[in-house]
Amino acid sequence: MTDSAPHGTSDFVVVANRLPVDMETLDDGTTRWKRSPGGLVTALEPILLDRERGSWVGWPGVPDTKVEPIVSGGIDLYPVELSSDEVSRYYEGFSNATLWPLYHDVLVAPVFDRDWWHTYLEVNRHFAEETARTAAEGATVWVQDYQLQLAPRLLREMRPDLTIGFFLHIPFPPVELFMQLPWRKEVVEGLLGADLIGFHLPGGAHNFLFLARRLLGLDATTAGVGVRGALGRVTLDDRVVQVGAFPISVDTRQLVEQAADPAVVERAAEIRRELGNPGKILLGVDRLDYTKGIDLRLSALGELLDEGRLDPSDTVMVQLATPSRERVEHYIKMRSSIEEQVSHINGDHGQIGRPVVHYLYQPVDRNELIALFLAADVMLVTPMRDGMNLVAKEYVACRADLGGALVLSEFAGAAAELRGAYLVNPHDLDGVKNTIVAALGQEREQGRRRMSRLHRQVLDHDVHRWAQSFLDALAPVTTD
Ligand code: ADP
Ligand code: G6P
Repeated sequence: MTDSAPHGTSDFVVVANRLPVDMETLDDGTTRWKRSPGGLVTALEPILLDRERGSWVGWPGVPDTKVEPIVSGGIDLYPVELSSDEVSRYYEGFSNATLWPLYHDVLVAPVFDRDWWHTYLEVNRHFAEETARTAAEGATVWVQDYQLQLAPRLLREMRPDLTIGFFLHIPFPPVELFMQLPWRKEVVEGLLGADLIGFHLPGGAHNFLFLARRLLGLDATTAGVGVRGALGRVTLDDRVVQVGAFPISVDTRQLVEQAADPAVVERAAEIRRELGNPGKILLGVDRLDYTKGIDLRLSALGELLDEGRLDPSDTVMVQLATPSRERVEHYIKMRSSIEEQVSHINGDHGQIGRPVVHYLYQPVDRNELIALFLAADVMLVTPMRDGMNLVAKEYVACRADLGGALVLSEFAGAAAELRGAYLVNPHDLDGVKNTIVAALGQEREQGRRRMSRLHRQVLDHDVHRWAQSFLDALAPVTTD
């Protein structure tokens, strides 16, 4: 790590709640940096590494800690300090106990708390101020995700010379649900500070355009928004805001390369041996989040074993769950109930030295993850709602061998593109069970055909194409 570029010199700035690395304090009081969790970092890191010089404004993941700007992996990092109170009200509160459930179909009840809202506004202002200090004259700034929906407007007020893009990494909810938010107008106005607002899917863009018309009485287009194509427009007094759909993806070529590394291939074989050479390996990889449907897939597995439709001596499931938002109520509850389900299945169907479910509540390193993808016969991605879900795309990117099968929820954004997957409705437990059995029993040639189609999709539509299409759509604004 070295010192980063001086403030005011960055031409391209990503602004996200988190930096791509989190600061960690070890038992002896020393600190080190580790990769931050989640799909946003997975997607944006390769984009910034690709550029000659890029900057990232974000929180280093620990409260009450002042961190000086640094360079990490060639990216200039500009930390935003948050107090414990701000973490509790802005991050755990408004972002993750209000917006997250509201935007994910109200899977749990969102909490509407006025103090949290005020802190959300204040923290968005801190982020805008740090970005305003960092960006050079006329720079392009790309604000990310639901934690920072007010930042585009605040930033424009501070720095009208900037070109501002915004991308939402989670679903934008149906209008009826969004309307529950007491601060709905402020959020839409905050986003309209951007020159281009991007969603994963056209549905999100349509919902937003409808709200701009209905809620704010603005002139917003009604024509269909296309994927990476036709943009919607909201006309304000002094400028036009574009609205589009840009499905995010993964660094496919990098994954293909890593998955072909002989050490990774050997590790995949070793994992199979370590698991006792079962006939079939099922895999789940998620942040431990109630939106991900980890409980649902465990219920499906449990019932299939109870009914004798799966053989516990020949089937193993590996579930990786990265710790996430561990102080937020529903995450605490979900962890307990998942761990209870795992114990239940192993209690009923395991043998000494041979549990049916191998559950790790920890992040694993990239090569280990890719080896697991190669070892897995069936990948289970079963969210109740997910903006995109990069794990599904990572799995098919890694399967250039055309092996394996993907069971994918219709309620993940990825399902719009990965039509060759075994699609399931996560609300239909019997349907999920039958589909798991079908995926486990697929004929080799049929499986290869499906995987070939999926693999080609992510080769053609990788994260670089995603970023390029967003930035191309943002660029004309710069040259106008
Ligand atoms: P989200 O952004 O909601 O967490 P995504 O599926 O879009 O969901 O992205 C999750 C990212 O985190 C992926 O890149 C995935 O590989 C990574 N990941 C999830 N769980 C683990 C884990 N246990 N160990 C390592 N990486 C993980
Ligand atoms: C999702 C969100 C990101 C978030 C990530 C990890 O991908 O869209 O904004 O960073 O989850 O969650 P966390 O709360 O740990 O940052």
